Amino acid sequence: MSSREKSIRREYSAVYSQFDSSLIQKVRSEAFEEDIGQHSWIVAKDLREYLDWFALSTTDHVLDFGCGPAGPLTYVVSQAGVKATGVDINATALASARNRVSMMGLSERIALQDVSEEATLPFEDNCFNAVISIDVMMHLPDRARSFSELWRVLAPGGCFLFTDACIVNGSLSDEDIRIRSHYGISHFVPDGFNESALVSAGFELEKKEQHSDGLIAICSGRWKAREKYKKELVAEFGAPAFEHEQTYLKRLVELYSDERLLRYAYLARK
Ligand SMILES: C[S@@+](CC[C@H](N)C(=O)[O-])C[C@H]1O[C@@H](n2cnc3c(N)ncnc32)[C@H](O)[C@@H]1O
Repeated sequence: MSSREKSIRREYSAVYSQFDSSLIQKVRSEAFEEDIGQHSWIVAKDLREYLDWFALSTTDHVLDFGCGPAGPLTYVVSQAGVKATGVDINATALASARNRVSMMGLSERIALQDVSEEATLPFEDNCFNAVISIDVMMHLPDRARSFSELWRVLAPGGCFLFTDACIVNGSLSDEDIRIRSHYGISHFVPDGFNESALVSAGFELEKKEQHSDGLIAICSGRWKAREKYKKELVAEFGAPAFEHEQTYLKRLVELYSDERLLRYAYLARK
């Protein structure tokens, strides 16, 4: 495993190992207008909009690339009645995902698989009807290679929906970049970068919408909820970890409200 992959796994594992604790559940239920089990910047309203873009049928097989603890994945399967496969490089995320899938009675319809950042995906060509990937792009070392690989496993005519929360649109200091890279190695790209990479991989871009508003709402909600439960959070995780996360959430609200960073959703077709 590469050192960059280790860094991403380490930062996310710290969160995922506590994901189902009663304290974190309490914080989440205050922070999210609708807690769907996401560990990203997606709000349920946007996910419902993406489902409309997709128009999935119940015989479709969906891949969630970087599914984390499977919040958006279980939501998509429950709403659209599809079967799905979730992959992630983080075993702690997948343990939490398995728990969620089983609690929701979706084990027959959702498969989960550990993947490596270096390897090609362990799937046949053309085997999925749709691919979703929510706030994963910033961690990929070689986006062009990942897009080609996702194009390979997608059936002709299938859709690829992803969000990217690291589009640079203004001046960022070294401190902004350090704070924004809270979850391990991160790649910041200019507007237009994803479009070119998609076309090079063989995709046609059908839609692109700015969805920074969900990120701002989630950061503000999490910051406020964490302040409310500060005493318990500090007792559980220590004051430095508490302050570190609060600084991160506060700086993100500033960066995305000022539009120095943007978050976009993209819909592309094979
Ligand atoms: C911000 S979280 C999003 C999780 C989930 N999509 C959600 O919306 O709740 C990003 C996830 O991407 C995963 N990830 C990072 N690099 C990856 C890679 N190369 N392949 C698969 N998953 C990856 C991380 O382990 C993490 O679970």
